[in-house]
Amino acid sequence: MIQISYISQAAAPMSSEDLLSLLMQCRRNNMARDITGMLLFANGTFLQVVEGDDRVVDDLVAVIGKDPRHTSVQLLGRRAIEARQYADWSMGFERVTSDSFKTIEGLRDFSEKDFNFATLASSQSMVQGLMEHYRVSHWDPLVREIDAKDKVIEHLRVALVQSRGRAEVASLVLESVIAAANGGGVNADHLRMCESALALLRPKS
Ligand SMILES: Cc1cc2nc3c(=O)[nH]c(=O)nc-3n(C[C@H](O)[C@H](O)[C@H](O)COP(=O)(O)O)c2cc1C
Repeated sequence: MIQISYISQAAAPMSSEDLLSLLMQCRRNNMARDITGMLLFANGTFLQVVEGDDRVVDDLVAVIGKDPRHTSVQLLGRRAIEARQYADWSMGFERVTSDSFKTIEGLRDFSEKDFNFATLASSQSMVQGLMEHYRVSHWDPLVREIDAKDKVIEHLRVALVQSRGRAEVASLVLESVIAAANGGGVNADHLRMCESALALLRPKS
């Protein structure tokens, strides 16, 4: 299994609807290919982590690299992993804001404007901090040794990050529909998008 991370720049401004349809595409495809990861976005800049079977991930990153929706794709890392770090997500997503930074240990002094291509390309510690923050911990034997209280806190932190991800999808749906309504009309595509988003948001039973 491998994990690849990269940064890139959106080729054109991404509307909520653009982000939502990209996210749906990622989740649909990744679920089918057993790929997990996360995608962060702000200031026209993407930071993505994808993980899964070596060949599947390499092939996917080659496809992503040619996607006209972004440019300047810069690989940050490609490494072998024994366990997934984003196991619960076919593609976790968040638009990074100054509030996001406030909740990240070691990155509290940063703000939304710092999430840009130049800074991410030159600051390994910022990339590491972000990747670490959004990863879902896996309970290996070592972690089981940790004090139960710490486990509860970690569990709550993960639940919080996941619910933020859901709120992000819900915001994208609402923003897309409002923009469509303001721009002349909601059509069948928007309704289909709402239905798929709703399916994503409903907790798995
Ligand atoms: C920033 C960015 C991230 C992407 N991430 C993924 C991804 O995780 N999984 C995926 O299948 N496609 C991803 N894509 C889309 C791919 O480039 C490509 O369009 C898609 O895999 C083709 O899917 P289709 O065969 O269903 O049309 C991404 C595109 C961009 C611009």
